[in-house]
Amino acid sequence: MKPGMTASRWLRESEVMKGHRWVRPGSVPWLSSSDWHETDVVSLDGDEVRLVAIAAKRPGTGAFRKLIWAIEAAGLKPVVVCPMGIMPAILKKWGWVETKVGTTYEDREEQWRPPRQTEAQGEATAAGQSTIPDDAPARAGGPPAAQGSME
Ligand SMILES: CC(C)(COP(=O)(O)OP(=O)(O)OC[C@H]1O[C@@H](n2cnc3c(N)ncnc32)[C@H](O)[C@@H]1OP(=O)(O)O)[C@@H](O)C(=O)NCCC(=O)NCCS
Repeated sequence: MKPGMTASRWLRESEVMKGHRWVRPGSVPWLSSSDWHETDVVSLDGDEVRLVAIAAKRPGTGAFRKLIWAIEAAGLKPVVVCPMGIMPAILKKWGWVETKVGTTYEDREEQWRPPRQTEAQGEATAAGQSTIPDDAPARAGGPPAAQGSME
């Protein structure tokens, strides 16, 4: 990392170097700037949304659940890259699956993905819906649907 460069900018530039497209919060319907910071690092790799470094503006109020729901409702697939802080515990609780990829310092990373789309998300995607329902935080992403007891 060059002197004076923020970690956020370095991660963002690393994503672009890897061939991914950086997504600015607020520039797409599924990544709300009211929930996520300008400095958060999210990128697109085909239909996968790489959540590289994110911090909710109001932690613990459902922003992450809503984000996962909105990504899947838009027909995209979320992947959390090298989770830190409380995130690994959340993903483990939700039953997400970890894969380690890469062999070098530059390309090695942990990737966490949902075990499968939830029934509610699958139905919404199939029906072409992209709006986020009021109860999205209660319906999105997590283990309840994966375990068949979401509603
Ligand atoms: C980690 C983070 C992005 C999660 O987003 P969030 O909007 O707070 O998460 P939600 O409110 O949607 O909650 C999702 C789940 O995580 C759980 N959770 C959220 N914060 C938690 C905490 N501090 N401790 C334990 N569980 C927590 C919620 O209870 C919920 O679980 P449930 O599925 O059983 O209901 C957010 O807490 C955050 O920004 N934390 C600080 C920065 C950070 O650690 N970023 C991760 C970098 S990879």
